[in-house]
Amino acid sequence: MAGNRSWVFFLTVCAVSLLGSNADIKFSIPVGKLFTYELMRETFQNDFEPLSKLYAGRLYDDPMIFKCNLQNFPDLPEWLRFTQRHPYDNGFLYGTPTSPGKSIIEIYAINKRSYETARQTIIINAITEKILPYQAEFFIKLREIEKVLPSPVQDEIKQDLQKLWRTEALEVVNISNALDRGGRVPLPLAGHYEGVYVKVASEQYFSECLLKVLTPEHERQCKAGAKIKIPGGCNFCSIPSNCITWCKTELIDLSKQEPAPPAPTMGPGILEAGGDFNPPESPPSRDFLPDYIVTVIVPLILAIILCLLLAYIMFGRREGVEKRNARTNQIQLYHHHTIHGNSDELRSMAGGRGVPPPLSTLPMFNARTGERAPPLQSDSPSIPLIMAQHDPYSDTLPRWESPSLLHL
Ligand SMILES: *[C@@H]1O[C@H](CO)[C@@H](O)[C@H](O)[C@H]1NC(C)=O
Repeated sequence: MAGNRSWVFFLTVCAVSLLGSNADIKFSIPVGKLFTYELMRETFQNDFEPLSKLYAGRLYDDPMIFKCNLQNFPDLPEWLRFTQRHPYDNGFLYGTPTSPGKSIIEIYAINKRSYETARQTIIINAITEKILPYQAEFFIKLREIEKVLPSPVQDEIKQDLQKLWRTEALEVVNISNALDRGGRVPLPLAGHYEGVYVKVASEQYFSECLLKVLTPEHERQCKAGAKIKIPGGCNFCSIPSNCITWCKTELIDLSKQEPAPPAPTMGPGILEAGGDFNPPESPPSRDFLPDYIVTVIVPLILAIILCLLLAYIMFGRREGVEKRNARTNQIQLYHHHTIHGNSDELRSMAGGRGVPPPLSTLPMFNARTGERAPPLQSDSPSIPLIMAQHDPYSDTLPRWESPSLLHL
């Protein structure tokens, strides 16, 4: 029974996931016309929240971000761009395909509240269509790309341009953010916008109003930086934010374009037979000996000389230094020793008073023989030191107590 139930569950999961992956959205669009697809947060919110929960009265409005890419590729195709201003706004995929072909776009929605993800696939099939010969690009200063991409706004702008062009047969070819074309990020203040370029195309030739853009007078005025108002009832903007900047209007006439140069003809891919290979003459040989002497031998000799000099300084003159050091050491040792002996004597004196006066108070005394030397000029304690300096090996030294020192 339990096995059966889990099978049913498994099948349901399979069916749901199959349905999910089958829910691809397909578009068939002409090459050279603008494609826009709005990623509705509402739709994805339904994926995150089961319907039962929605009906129970819990409606969420979660922040969401989207990741879009061409299937099996890390990024979107070159012609397609994605934009979303804020996690609480809808996202947009937009762009103009330049060549026919099929693109499968994967869209991942990430819920920034629960960190759940939902996936959607759209299939865009671009079909070749005749390119409209007359194109014009307009700059709309008071707009942002996300505000222009929704189709009602696109229609508003198109209607104004249709009046300007005096034709109904007008197609939006491209809409792009001014920031993508070297525009500046505006100040974060009300009334400052990034600006949007809108390119439209038609079968019909430009209207008189549009052709005024090409007059030298218009060019001159634009260079002078004056605020241009095209006269003669050519201002057809019903909504102020949709008004175009006349000086940035550009007309493109593709009908006059020269045909592309013919593609280079392909050869058979085999070189013609042309005799034997004649190798180029080798350059004259060069004598490298002087270079070798200058760069290797001379520095080597210098290094050897320096080495010898250093060796002489280090070993030839070191002996004297060592001898002097040895003498100083002996003096220090002897000094230490006398201090030691004196303190011992003082200690024994403190032990028993009334004993004969300590040896150190006597003028001179040989510790080994017990013989007393005749008194010297003075009995200051510095005398033995001075004597040691004169002749440290003398047997007549006063109070030598350590024989090992004697034979140093
Ligand atoms: C549309 O505009 C963008 C940005 O300027 C540009 O990169 C792209 O090539 C244009 N597409 C067409 C088909 O003109």
